[in-house]
Amino acid sequence: MIYLIGFMGSGKSTIAKQLSEELHKEYIEMDEEIEKKEGATIPQMFSDHGESYFREKETLFLKSIKGDEIVSTGGGIILADENRDLLAEGTVFYLQASWETIVERLADDTERPLWKGEIAEKKARLEERLPLYESLADYIIPVDGKTPGVITDEIVKCL
Ligand code: S3P
Repeated sequence: MIYLIGFMGSGKSTIAKQLSEELHKEYIEMDEEIEKKEGATIPQMFSDHGESYFREKETLFLKSIKGDEIVSTGGGIILADENRDLLAEGTVFYLQASWETIVERLADDTERPLWKGEIAEKKARLEERLPLYESLADYIIPVDGKTPGVITDEIVKCL
């Protein structure tokens, strides 16, 4: 399994699609699949039941993925020990975007429940997660200023 990890806005979904075409493998967009399975959007899950409810569903879904696919994860996948153990069984690519890139890409985002509120809080969330992304990564792919094509090629060369 190939797992793409990284903060919100790092380009996991875009790269998963391109990688899927390049490698002729299926890809799974975790957030979308969880939404389909639960019959609710992520913002709805967060507002109706709280973040921990979404995290439970996220872990359940991650556990259910079998086969040899490309998995685009949600930015918080690295928070649970159990998830980290599962990810470590596959090949993990960390799409490393700088704070500036993330802010630029998510400037118009009004959907993501954890991309709301104070800028300092969001930056702290990224900083808290950085060591987790880094330690779990088999490969760290810096993405700032690169096109999806270039990023995809870099990943393919690592395989
Ligand atoms: C989250 C990231 C989101 C989604 C949920 C929580 C996070 O996915 O799973 O809103 O905790 O960083 P993306 O990384 O695809 O935005």
